[in-house]
Amino acid sequence: MKFAIEEHLAQTEGHVKRLERVFEMCGKKVQAKKCDAMEGIIKEGDSIVEETQEGSMTRDAGIIMAAQKVEHYEIATYGSLVQIAKTLGMNDAAEVLHQTLDEEKQADEKLTEVAEWHVNLEAEKEEINN
Ligand SMILES: [Fe+2]
Repeated sequence: MKFAIEEHLAQTEGHVKRLERVFEMCGKKVQAKKCDAMEGIIKEGDSIVEETQEGSMTRDAGIIMAAQKVEHYEIATYGSLVQIAKTLGMNDAAEVLHQTLDEEKQADEKLTEVAEWHVNLEAEKEEINN
């Protein structure tokens, strides 16, 4: 799980670069803006870590859940931005944003796989104990 999250973190740096390119394509100065919704999702993730035991399946499941909420929010946002770029006839910008959208979807799928793998592992343990 740690690998999947770290790998996506590295990808996210590329997403920032792409956004900078989109700003350029729009002829706008790059401007960062704090996202209240994302801050809330991250806060929720932090509280999951605080309320669970280190190394526990519950913590892992909670971290996966929080990470998927981040990805879903990003997917919704990039999906809308792709659509807006297309509507404005900015196909180059739409293409760049779509690349990021695809990577966000891949990250989400990877997290689902990790979650399923955890469930299977738990089920196996139960079978051994019963
Ligand atoms: Fe992401």
